[in-house]
Amino acid sequence: MKRTKFVIGNWKMNGLKSSMNIYEGVNKHMLSNKKSSDLNVVICPPFTLINLFSSKKTSKIMIGAQDTHEKESGAYTGSISSQMLSDLGAGYVIIGHSERRQYFGENVKLLADKIIAAQKADLKVIFCIGELKNEIKNRKSVLRKQLKSLPKKLNYKNIIIAYEPVWAIGTGLIPSFDEINSIHLSIRDILKYDLKFSKNVSILYGGSVNPKNASNILSLENVDGALVGGASLNSKDFSNIIDYYT
Ligand code: 13P
Repeated sequence: MKRTKFVIGNWKMNGLKSSMNIYEGVNKHMLSNKKSSDLNVVICPPFTLINLFSSKKTSKIMIGAQDTHEKESGAYTGSISSQMLSDLGAGYVIIGHSERRQYFGENVKLLADKIIAAQKADLKVIFCIGELKNEIKNRKSVLRKQLKSLPKKLNYKNIIIAYEPVWAIGTGLIPSFDEINSIHLSIRDILKYDLKFSKNVSILYGGSVNPKNASNILSLENVDGALVGGASLNSKDFSNIIDYYT
């Protein structure tokens, strides 16, 4: 079985109703491409735009959320549950992004609970891992620890791993292409041998992906797609990145 390819845009805390034109631009670009492709394109806008984007008919873009709550429902003022996201038409959710770990203090127990809640609501989970700059030397053990924090009972078909070196996010810096390829291979080995995952889990790269470096990154044997931040807010740039696969 072939591994599924993904290009996923994480809009972070950006986007208003008027940003529909970014979404429309990418969709139009995809609709005009006659070549068939098994690529999955997902945009994860802020919660406030999920309904607007997912209501769009004739769309080739799937919608995801950037976070979810670990509980199904209840007295948690201001929170959004996985079931609510599903109900709005989201099919994916990002969990474990370094910005959530860093700025919101999300720990491994909380992340595991969020993953369980998301899977219960039939959301596919994009689970982010990655080392800090001062952890580069111990990268493999950092990544192993993060992967081992995944809950034991998982539907492996509905999980995607995104390797995002924290020092590469929004900085314009990236590991060398050879390094990215070999880190992805290590991740696949950890998934396979330590966690008994299927070897077909998609592993995406994220961190300063742009139209210039995308073709080099996406052509690496062990890379199954990209999780794109800044460049996903520009329909031309995001479309250029998608074009690598189509
Ligand atoms: P940038 O592409 O802006 O570096 O962000 C990457 C990221 O954090 C995606 O989740």
